[in-house]
Amino acid sequence: MHGEQQHYDVLVIGSGAAGLTVALNLPASLRVAVLAKAISAEGSTFYAQGGVAAVLDAHDSVESHIADTLNAGAGLCHADAVRFTVEHSREAIQWLIEQGVAFTGEPGDEQHHDYHLTREGGHSHRRVIHAADATGRAIETTLLDRARARGNITLHDNHIAIDLITSTKLGRGDNRVLGAYVLDRKRGKVEVLRARSVVLATGGASKVYLYTSNPDISTGDGIAMAWRAGCRVANMEFNQFHPTCLYHPKAKSFLITEAIRGEGGRLLLPDGSRFMERFDPRGELAPRDIVARAIDHEIKRLGVECVYLDISHRPAEFIQNHFPTVYARCLEFGIDITREPIPVVPAAHYTCGGVMVDLNGRTDITGLYAAGEVTFTGLHGANRLASNSLLECLVFGRAAALDITARLPDLPPVDALPAWDESRVTDSDEEVVVSHNWEELRRFMWDYVGIVRTDKRLQRAKRRVDLLCSEIHEYYGNFRVTNDLLELRNLVQVADLIIRSAMARKESRGLHYTLDYPHIAAGEPQDTILVPDNSPLH
Ligand code: FAD
Ligand code: SIN
Repeated sequence: MHGEQQHYDVLVIGSGAAGLTVALNLPASLRVAVLAKAISAEGSTFYAQGGVAAVLDAHDSVESHIADTLNAGAGLCHADAVRFTVEHSREAIQWLIEQGVAFTGEPGDEQHHDYHLTREGGHSHRRVIHAADATGRAIETTLLDRARARGNITLHDNHIAIDLITSTKLGRGDNRVLGAYVLDRKRGKVEVLRARSVVLATGGASKVYLYTSNPDISTGDGIAMAWRAGCRVANMEFNQFHPTCLYHPKAKSFLITEAIRGEGGRLLLPDGSRFMERFDPRGELAPRDIVARAIDHEIKRLGVECVYLDISHRPAEFIQNHFPTVYARCLEFGIDITREPIPVVPAAHYTCGGVMVDLNGRTDITGLYAAGEVTFTGLHGANRLASNSLLECLVFGRAAALDITARLPDLPPVDALPAWDESRVTDSDEEVVVSHNWEELRRFMWDYVGIVRTDKRLQRAKRRVDLLCSEIHEYYGNFRVTNDLLELRNLVQVADLIIRSAMARKESRGLHYTLDYPHIAAGEPQDTILVPDNSPLH
């Protein structure tokens, strides 16, 4: 029995900046489906504050942006990926402007416009174009409107992809992706979506940590699905912790943009003294790994719960104009940022590693592409430079769309696929297993695989993740799938990949800092590449 199966030319899993860029750059003659596991706008893109890094100022240069990216990446960036991304930055911004994104400043023609460019850590120039402090919202809502207006694109919200269907899994030999099993969350039914090409644009995995700036959807689904399907995954040990998330018992995941430091914000200890100069001559504008580690160090040294970020020395009108979102949100918690400092702590923010792709977004499986935070392109190295990630979504999203368009004639339509088999499962009688394991996983990842690591902490984490993996695997085999179970299954998979990668790196570099190997290792820097047993490369 095959049941009813939808067939598309291209199935894009994810409706953030990466997924929508792919979909909108495909020809209107193709039938395209875009999935979102919650409402379509929900994802990290929507919450991005600071902006998009791009070479737009006459005094800035491609070489300078490249140098800053390589410098932040601590020797691990791939030079070709960095150059490719930065050289396409102006074109990517121009495309966003054409789609209708209203950036702060004065629009003009392609060569002469006067948009406001802000500054963030690690950048030696003002080069971050933004829409006040809600850049992601402007990009996401604009691109979604564009996608909705396109007759060839079908948006399916509340549809969570469970696993990819590949020819290898079906015992056919040509290593091709054929579609995906997808749970329609509203109907509680698993559907088969067939497609000639599939794009993973599922975002990052920061929900693997207890404290994160990310929305709930960031559970690493694409990384876990790709790994299970046989794709290589790289550099998963490099989790970026954003230095400044709002510290307030009622504030879940609210970021205080780095642009506040770019516009003069100062980090303070509870006694009002500055401390960043003790850690780096660039002070508050040192790259994120350094600032997050400094804050973590001071919090632990003093036994305090948070440090403070103060911008109140700038005029109130300037603050309200540049940071309306942060101003309004903090005010809801009784903090007037024009008059007083903001309590802040670091939180998991960005997954630098991911599914390995080339400059066309191709993975190890024919027809399977990936774009955005789910990927490892080589751009970020050991530490992502601020505001380079939205840029990566745009540049690699477009590159993937162009490659798919060129290659699709070689990929014939997909015949009927086996339906989802529910014959051996029942409804769960113990949902508590899911919620308990979810909590436990995120806590030990925070405690043992966080900003500062040791061999012993990693070994503790590995023992726990092994146990959770087997428990969740058994549970998954017995009970009907739900959104929470699927996310937990992916989170535990990704946690295992992070721990294994962290254990393999016997040095401190960029975002991976371990007390047992506190220095950069001598010799040529190496990526940590994990190869699954079912990789087509074996
Ligand atoms: P997302 O925007 O996260 O979208 C993921 C999509 O995949 C969603 O539609 C989701 O529903 C879908 N999805 C996931 N799993 C499944 C599944 N199993 N089935 C179906 N659909 C699925 N970067 C910058 O460059 N500049 C910034 O100023 C900036 N600020 C940030 C502020 C915050 C608070 C955060 C959290 C991140 C920020 N970042 C910033 C990082 C940047 O926003 C993200 O890296 C980027 O938006 C990721 O885009 P994406 O399209 O890859 O994923
Ligand atoms: C921020 O606005 O601080 C986030 C920027 C980023 O993550 O690139």
